[in-house]
Amino acid sequence: MTEQTPVTEEKSVKVPALPDAQTVTEVKHYTDRLFSFRCTRPASLRFRSGEFVMIGLMGDPDPKTGKQKPLLRAYSIASPAWDEEMEFYSIKVQDGPLTSKLQHIKPGDEIILRPKPVGTLVHDALLPGKRIWFFATGTGFAPFASLLREPQTYEDYDEVIITHTCREVGELTYGRDLIESIRNDAMLAELMGEDFHKKIRYYPTTTREESPKMGRITDLIRSGEVFEDLGIEPLNPETDRAMICGNLAFNLELKELFEEAGLEEGANSKPAQYVVEKAFLD
Ligand code: A2P
Repeated sequence: MTEQTPVTEEKSVKVPALPDAQTVTEVKHYTDRLFSFRCTRPASLRFRSGEFVMIGLMGDPDPKTGKQKPLLRAYSIASPAWDEEMEFYSIKVQDGPLTSKLQHIKPGDEIILRPKPVGTLVHDALLPGKRIWFFATGTGFAPFASLLREPQTYEDYDEVIITHTCREVGELTYGRDLIESIRNDAMLAELMGEDFHKKIRYYPTTTREESPKMGRITDLIRSGEVFEDLGIEPLNPETDRAMICGNLAFNLELKELFEEAGLEEGANSKPAQYVVEKAFLD
């Protein structure tokens, strides 16, 4: 029998100061308007790739009472369901209530993460098809960063087309780097076969800075240019499925284009041919 020694050392576990606190593990800045960060994942949190959660920080103290309230916003989870950590991709708005503060987080800081995932950009909301389109503007890329790392995406579809429209070239970096790393991902290759990366078609466009492909994706669909560039047939309700995540005007225009092409909007309770979610703007 070994002698029992009383435990005298102080516990080094830091007591979280915030409700639903998670610790930031990594922060990357891309432009003066965009950054991404990773944080710990609540042990009990289960979610489907493509869903969102409420995250945030404590707001400033009320000048009268001194009380602080959590300042929360809906953020798409950019990491896939299998990831041990959580990843988010965010805009920085200098006078935005949350992102003016959130942009300054560093590894070791705490954020609030309410562990109640919801959302419609999930595979369950779509009927089976051959080709899936992910349409994003700006930080609307986030749910697709999750879905592009989700093995089911490649199990369910022969082709995965991701379009990303941004104002400037630098705003494409997060998505471009991510797609590059997915194409070289050993785990996905092992699970889905060496050639899985050939299913990914990446179609980035810019609207305010010169790049190889200029223009709003909505205009490129109307003119047929995107289909010509990719060497594929126009949208077809039999084969094409789509997920949309961008600003409101973009979402509405694409909805109109899909309805014209005969695609119907789906939901968790009624899967159909396309689904929409508004990208977070602060
Ligand atoms: P544009 O520069 O022509 O406005 P934002 O940063 O304002 O959210 O925009 C992100 C990207 O989405 C920009 O390239 C912007 O193009 C584009 N965009 C904005 N509204 C629409 C829309 N209704 N349809 C297609 N693209 C849009």
